[in-house]
Amino acid sequence: MKRLFVTGAAGFIGSNLVRHLLADDRDVSITILDKLTYAGRRETMRDFLDDPRVRFVEGDICDASLVEELVQGADAIVNVAAESHVDRSILGPAAFVQTNIVGTFVLLEAARKAGVGRFLQVSTDEVYGSIASGTTDESFPLDPRNPYAATKAGAELLARSYFTTYKLPVVITRGANNYGPFQFIEKAIPLFTTNAIDRQPLPVYGDGRQERHWMHVLDHCAGIDLVLREGIAGEIYNIGTDDHRPNMYVVEQILAALDRPRDLIRHVSDRPGHDIRYSLDSSKVRALGWEPTRSFESGLEATVRWYEENEWWWRPIKSGEYARYYEQNYAWRATAGSR
Ligand code: NAD
Ligand code: TYD
Repeated sequence: MKRLFVTGAAGFIGSNLVRHLLADDRDVSITILDKLTYAGRRETMRDFLDDPRVRFVEGDICDASLVEELVQGADAIVNVAAESHVDRSILGPAAFVQTNIVGTFVLLEAARKAGVGRFLQVSTDEVYGSIASGTTDESFPLDPRNPYAATKAGAELLARSYFTTYKLPVVITRGANNYGPFQFIEKAIPLFTTNAIDRQPLPVYGDGRQERHWMHVLDHCAGIDLVLREGIAGEIYNIGTDDHRPNMYVVEQILAALDRPRDLIRHVSDRPGHDIRYSLDSSKVRALGWEPTRSFESGLEATVRWYEENEWWWRPIKSGEYARYYEQNYAWRATAGSR
């Protein structure tokens, strides 16, 4: 697969995926479509925008005529673009329905009409909902519990239906929580890290005993690439590590790495419907040959250093739209308290 069409590459996972693909294959050519929402930034792509193998188009995955034009001649589509933050989906779900469901539909239709040979839908472990104990394999029932997760579940069900009905060669990945360079600072790890750098409070939802299993973004990208090349059409692949960590542990590691005091921690009102725990059984993708290569502790340490050394990237985000979002999402929480 030489001619790839990748959506959402001005964001966190998409930009890391493009870096991974360019490093992996000298002959690849990649067309990127990204709307440059608040989460998508040219700066994030600055190291590959001038690469002759890359063509960047600013635009919306919901724009059917643009998408139809761009997918002509593509060997594969990788749909990474999404509205991706749970808290924003609680504040305003409309954009999530539009981009995550309608946008995926537009891409699937264009792929079907153009006869594209592969369609990879990047999905998430959040489609399974909260798992009190044990692990979820790919046959586990879906139980998304917030608008973000519900729209991601809707998108992948639609994608699967295009395999069953139209024989479009769809593969789906369900990734665990990612961390690493270029993650937008609304997400927990970069939010805690940049707040700690600035000696600002770290807002922990509820008691902080919720658990995520964390995966370095480059391990995720290697898994997506493997499924793109070797996954069986119509199949779903979980991609996750065994690195389960409670949120309080994550916060404490970040504070220790930055030599900041524990009294920066603030327990604030919990997220409504907060999923307590996710846990993927990833034996299927491991059977294809995938293994995570970074431990959480070493990956987190490197990520904290990256944010320390790359203020040029995140410092400008802290004002403007992000400041308004922060006020909307956190001001009431801090005063309401939680315990
Ligand atoms: P992100 O918010 O950092 O990036 C999303 C990108 O999509 C941005 O560049 C944005 O501009 C673009 N975009 C949004 N709406 C668009 C539209 N209508 N048209 C074109 N471009 C649009 O998100 P991320 O964390 O990189 O997540 C990427 C994908 O991976 C999402 O599908 C998400 O569901 C999935 N995922 C994320 C995680 C995680 O931990 N971050 C884990 C598993 C799966
Ligand atoms: P997040 O990065 O938003 O990912 P997701 O909700 O998709 O798993 O959050 C990771 C965990 O951190 C989750 O349990 C919610 C928690 N969290 C906080 O405690 N405080 C915060 O300010 C944020 C953004 C998240």
